[in-house]
Amino acid sequence: MSRFTELNARRAHEIISHYPRARSAIIPLLHLAQEQEGWITNDAMTQIAELTGATAAEVLGTGSFYEMFKFHPVGRYLVNVCTNISCQLLGGEELLEHAETTLGITDGQTSDDGLFTLEDVECVAACTEAPCFTVNYRYFHRATPETFSEVVAELRAGRNPMEKGQQGDRGEIPDHGTLSRTLQHIPADRKAGIVAPEEAAQAPSWMPTETGENA
Ligand code: FES
Repeated sequence: MSRFTELNARRAHEIISHYPRARSAIIPLLHLAQEQEGWITNDAMTQIAELTGATAAEVLGTGSFYEMFKFHPVGRYLVNVCTNISCQLLGGEELLEHAETTLGITDGQTSDDGLFTLEDVECVAACTEAPCFTVNYRYFHRATPETFSEVVAELRAGRNPMEKGQQGDRGEIPDHGTLSRTLQHIPADRKAGIVAPEEAAQAPSWMPTETGENA
């Protein structure tokens, strides 16, 4: 499923109703699409364009400005470890190394079981609670390697570790879809590491070329 579910289609219309112009709802609709699938598919962008009167290219152009929107599949749990200055001074680099060892992957990679994608990120805006990491954008403050391991163990066991999270979280970690769906979509080269720059630069197949045909 890459277009909105029936429920989310109703939510999308409700979101649009809050704005004087439908296209002002593009960003919240991108959030809704990502919440549903874990990433933003071409079909979702096309549907958002239909709903808002924008072009698909405008939807992509808006969303791709923001690092938190993903246009490729990620693991069920997206783990961001902050290594910017406040976190770095208080052990962020060591936390990232521990995360890499614990998950068996490096920055930008997804674990072979499709459960975790790891990202080394710049400041998640919780500097007073450094060092920090997030899981599906839920915060874990003043983290240590031990707390990281505990959270990962809870997730691997299928439990919600958010009681270990601190203020700023919403009490749960949203699930980015079933494991089988995640595994089905993650390309082998992303599991192995970085996507080739030429692939990243490739226009989606639905985007018109300069001649007006689809790529
Ligand atoms: S430096 Fe890590 S949250 Fe700001």
